[in-house]
Amino acid sequence: MKLILKLSLLILLMASCTNPVKKVKPKKTIPVNNHSFSNIEEVHTTHLHLDLNVDFTNKKLSGVARHKMDNQGANQAVFDIKGLKIQKVTTGNSENEKVRKFEIGPGVENTILGQPLIVNIDKNTAYVNIYYETTEESEALDWLDSALTSSKNKPFLYTQGQAILTRTWIPIQDAPSNRITYSADLKVPSDLMAVMSASNPKEKNHEGNYHFDMKQPIPCYLIALAVGDLVYGDLGNHTGVYCEPELLEASMYEFEDLPNMMEAAEKLYGKYAWDQYDLLILPYSFPFGGMENPRLTFANPTLLAGDRSLVSVVAHELAHSWSGNLVTNETWNDFWLNEGFTVYFENRIMEEIIGKNGADNLALIEFFELQEELERIENSGHPEDAHLFLDLDGRDPDDGMTDVAYVKGAFFLKTLEANVGRDKMDVFLMSYFDHFKFTSVNTDKFVSYLEKELLQKHKIDFNYKEWIYQPGIPESCINLKSDGFENVKEMAITFANGETDESWDKVPFNKRSNYSVQEWLTFIRHLPSDINVEKMAKLDKHLAFSEWTNAEIQFEWFMKSISSNYTNAYPYLESFLEKIGRRKFILPLYEALYKNVNTRKKALEWFKDYNKNYHAVSSNSIAEALEL
Ligand code: BES
Ligand code: ZN
Repeated sequence: MKLILKLSLLILLMASCTNPVKKVKPKKTIPVNNHSFSNIEEVHTTHLHLDLNVDFTNKKLSGVARHKMDNQGANQAVFDIKGLKIQKVTTGNSENEKVRKFEIGPGVENTILGQPLIVNIDKNTAYVNIYYETTEESEALDWLDSALTSSKNKPFLYTQGQAILTRTWIPIQDAPSNRITYSADLKVPSDLMAVMSASNPKEKNHEGNYHFDMKQPIPCYLIALAVGDLVYGDLGNHTGVYCEPELLEASMYEFEDLPNMMEAAEKLYGKYAWDQYDLLILPYSFPFGGMENPRLTFANPTLLAGDRSLVSVVAHELAHSWSGNLVTNETWNDFWLNEGFTVYFENRIMEEIIGKNGADNLALIEFFELQEELERIENSGHPEDAHLFLDLDGRDPDDGMTDVAYVKGAFFLKTLEANVGRDKMDVFLMSYFDHFKFTSVNTDKFVSYLEKELLQKHKIDFNYKEWIYQPGIPESCINLKSDGFENVKEMAITFANGETDESWDKVPFNKRSNYSVQEWLTFIRHLPSDINVEKMAKLDKHLAFSEWTNAEIQFEWFMKSISSNYTNAYPYLESFLEKIGRRKFILPLYEALYKNVNTRKKALEWFKDYNKNYHAVSSNSIAEALEL
């Protein structure tokens, strides 16, 4: 266990000795598993009912979280909370509630985990009801004033639970190893619609009352809520999209392939388990590309590129309906079981949608990023983060969100596939999802299953250990090639080195459509970081990278603009940072600005001005990078 946890446990121990007046006698130590204080081995929630009022004026949720619990005879139930105001706790069902003593902490206030909420219960208690309200410290919540929405005339609220932020808006046993069903009754302003990771309305309710049910058991990081001026568009085959009205046409166009993705996914790994699959297009502050909230993937509006070039993110979130939501990482150390499998699966879906060549190109882009990430990790304070199986005890589980889990995880499966053959791999994965459906799996369990159901069964010798427990990319890793990428790479180098116009001839100025978005990305990446400013200007003049409203291209171009001091791009970069809150883009941009002595001041100024437009997930990461 790492220092922070050790310290907090020490403080807890001291507090429990020096604080004899408290009524509830805390345990000497509260063991922390899965980044949670909860005692799920003794008593755990099986169903949660939320009864909440959504108050936009005070930016506050308030009401009660009713936990139906499976109690093994415990006399305390421990929940996780962070940034919540607990008003009252009762036990018993809603007709027959008895007020209970509870204690927060005591003595433990961990900056990552929050605090344990310890409730006195009886050994046969089956219902615990927690009356509470959220605060400004409730990091999951992003309350947006209307100015930050697409229509600019109605406010918006959304939550982000993964990895351990659900405890900042619901008092809950916040561990991915426990699964619960949930229901909710919400009261929202009557001109807005509420949607959740559950059964959803298709139209507004004029009183602003909404009821939700999630009948399949899920880990609680997948509980999600959004409230805004929303409309619904049906895409067919149990799929559709929620968004603000003016985005409907663009969204329906961009995601037209969603029913085909669903078909491809079901063909691979079996029937979709969650009945309906919709997308919700969020405002620009959303810190991720997508978040796989069951039945309702939360998606970043930067995916609306207008040319369907970024839809692999949707394939990714759809894939999580199997890898992640159906079969869940038991702890955050097993995060690669969620993301590595999903990136592999995402690529299989994309292969069906755009063909093998296009899918390989997507994978190659990711592989390039993995190599950069591994270099960073090797030189960081935690070189062991390059293993698939992680040790995040005492650290923020967010630290595990690197390309190792995603891309090394996916290339592990791709390499395994190449060794065993696609047919056997498909049978294996289909049975894996079926065998472990609606449960949580850790790396050991996966390894046993792999040995028994694939390797021994077919007498295959495959060194999975070096992938899972060692750093770096094993020698055995498959090697993808793309002629298209080789071509643009060469074009970038020739252009950058060339002195005369002739050596630039290969670049199709004025003909952006000669190459795909992914090829242009690769082109920009292979320009040297200190490329001269005139050449940057020439590219920009003819190909308009600064203005291209494709966030992936802009991001890559702005990174190059910062490293080469190409200041013409800065006004576009500033608008980008003002508007977009997706961490994958803005964190590296701020880091690069901060690293460069010429732009360090700008990094601080811009962050000061635009921080209010970001979700806490992005904002906290950037603040740390800027040493604030
Ligand atoms: N589940 C993740 C997002 C996440 C991970 C949030 C860990 C919080 C903690 C989601 O599925 C994801 O991976 N999103 C990626 C998509 C990409 C890899 C296609 C993103 O947002 O960039
Ligand atoms: Zn994912």
